[in-house]
Amino acid sequence: MSNESFLAQRLICVAVIDRTEDAVPLAEALLAGGLNVIEVTFRTAAAAEAIARIRRSLPTMGVGAGTLLTADQVRQASEAGAQFGVAPGLSESVSNAAQKHKLPLFPGVITPTEVMHALDLGWTTLKFFPAGAAGGVDMLKALAGPFGHTGVKFIPTGGVTAANLPSYLAVPQVAAVGGSWMAERKLVADKAWDKITALTAEAMKIAQQTQK
Ligand code: 3PG
Repeated sequence: MSNESFLAQRLICVAVIDRTEDAVPLAEALLAGGLNVIEVTFRTAAAAEAIARIRRSLPTMGVGAGTLLTADQVRQASEAGAQFGVAPGLSESVSNAAQKHKLPLFPGVITPTEVMHALDLGWTTLKFFPAGAAGGVDMLKALAGPFGHTGVKFIPTGGVTAANLPSYLAVPQVAAVGGSWMAERKLVADKAWDKITALTAEAMKIAQQTQK
């Protein structure tokens, strides 16, 4: 899948997986809700194996690795078969490792300085994190002023819900929106697959109805 296909549905489910055996059922629950992209965060020891299992079992699922804080995590993600990487911030060591492993990266930014740094490093689709706490849609629209013409795109994440999803998706510079609300850690731990499918289907419906 290219960057464009990961972002085509304009939604990324950010997941924290504690048990590797939950990885495939979770991805199946998202697929049942119509979403074919998951970001498995490197916040648990299960992350790399979870990515590998989903890649082996569900070839139609786009699988990213999230919360990449170190070059070694980029290596592990890449070896596990991750198709893209996401970081909460901008780090040259993570950026260099992603380039070395040819892993498309969505590094995190908030400020204009960070956007300029990311563009310098060659990244043009940037996670905007933590979106809600940093000013949400108003902040994104302000950043679009000086950066809109550069082609930079944002993936706002952090504090997104079904309720505010339409306002983020309506910003022209928003490539996709990320969030955990469709598959919160507790829902995964409880194996609440039907609930996750329902929340995903609801989010997909909103995304399909929201035009840029
Ligand atoms: C992330 O890593 O992107 C965030 O933890 C997701 O934020 P959310 O839990 O508020 O959706």
